Amino acid sequence: MAPDGRFALHGDLLDFVSTPAWGSVDTPAVRFRPDHWLLVDGGRIAGVAAEAPGEGWPRVEHGGRLVLPGFVDSHVHSPQIDVIASYGTELLDWLTTHTFPAEVRHREAAHAEPSAAHFLDALVAHGTTAAVVVPTVHATSVDALFAAAETRGMRIIAGKVLMDRNAPADLVDSVESAERETRELKGRWHGRGRGAYAMTVRFAPTSTPAQLAMAGRFCRDDPSLYMQTHLAENRAEVAWVKELFPEARSYLDVYARAGLLHAKSVFAHGIWLDDADRAALAEAGAQIAHSPSSNLFLGSGLFGWRAALDAGVHVSLASDVGGGTSLSMLRNMADAYKIQALAGERLTAWRALHAATRGAAEALGLGAEIGTLEAGSVADVCVWDEAVGSVATRRAEVARSLHERMFAWMTLADERNLVQAFVAGRLRFERDD
Ligand code: GUN
Ligand code: ZN
Repeated sequence: MAPDGRFALHGDLLDFVSTPAWGSVDTPAVRFRPDHWLLVDGGRIAGVAAEAPGEGWPRVEHGGRLVLPGFVDSHVHSPQIDVIASYGTELLDWLTTHTFPAEVRHREAAHAEPSAAHFLDALVAHGTTAAVVVPTVHATSVDALFAAAETRGMRIIAGKVLMDRNAPADLVDSVESAERETRELKGRWHGRGRGAYAMTVRFAPTSTPAQLAMAGRFCRDDPSLYMQTHLAENRAEVAWVKELFPEARSYLDVYARAGLLHAKSVFAHGIWLDDADRAALAEAGAQIAHSPSSNLFLGSGLFGWRAALDAGVHVSLASDVGGGTSLSMLRNMADAYKIQALAGERLTAWRALHAATRGAAEALGLGAEIGTLEAGSVADVCVWDEAVGSVATRRAEVARSLHERMFAWMTLADERNLVQAFVAGRLRFERDD
């Protein structure tokens, strides 16, 4: 066990000092400091040393292992661990067949509390130390999630799901009840410890225009609030939104008209967009939470990362469990590479890792807190084996460049490579060897 307060972590330190250019495998944005010491004090990164520090720094020895900032998952559903890997449906059927029944159970604290604890422990055990999380429509699920995150010292952005139509009776709220509960939950959790509140519109089809407007009023009244929702994930969903909101120019425009498009907006998916949508996202400073394993698993479509980039839209990486098939951001990076390959594009390891660390942190306005190994950041840090098993070990041995090594790691590794995870300087996961 590592000591909890002040310690020096020895390993190969990797993070980013800026945004790596698309397609560039050799970039000054990468900061690789092999055989260095990360100094952690009072839950924060105190600095980095090339030489072993003196007596006052208890040592945590991981020579030869990778030390990275904890991953940021910019879109994941806490109650959907129970429906990960559910067979046979696209988005709208998947919601009614698998997802809604699982979410109903979170009305009861006796279910929501252990479930939230399991979810957060699982996140950390996959190397993810911060996340933008969708719980359920029930206040109990939000309280359970924030309370469990507080106990673990985790940076979590979340909020009560808003849905007042087109869902089972057990899962719908009303404008009034949603407004009241949101006010209470926001008062309880926004800015408490590392928690931040997000107005959480499930997606346009499950909220009335009146509820969307209510959510927009919250954002307008308090610009420190985040907003998270789904956007243009699936073609049938997009057609449904067109029917429900004939006055809107596009799916994104439904949110924009309600005041839900701003710099703190996180839109999951964003596959079926046009140039005007991308320009509006860029102008607002909003981000797309690209969810590769979900997009493949639910057959939703292939995200045009290059088009988003060219338009100047921030793109972060997300697991979208339970539509996604793994909480591992590495597994999602591997899927993201394959999606870009189908479009004739090449996603570098640098761009993928950046989108799950510094890039996500900056897009969330949290670049000074998470996403890098910079002195002053909170010590959310993970220690990884570069290779597990004979195939990955051999691949690492023959790799000739740092990018080749890290690309093989991103493609072959998963949560089994995680050795230790620290959240705010405290050891929260350690692999049993
Ligand atoms: N759209 C509306 N709700 C959901 C959800 O729970 N998961 C995904 N992937 N898309 C959604
Ligand atoms: Zn989702």
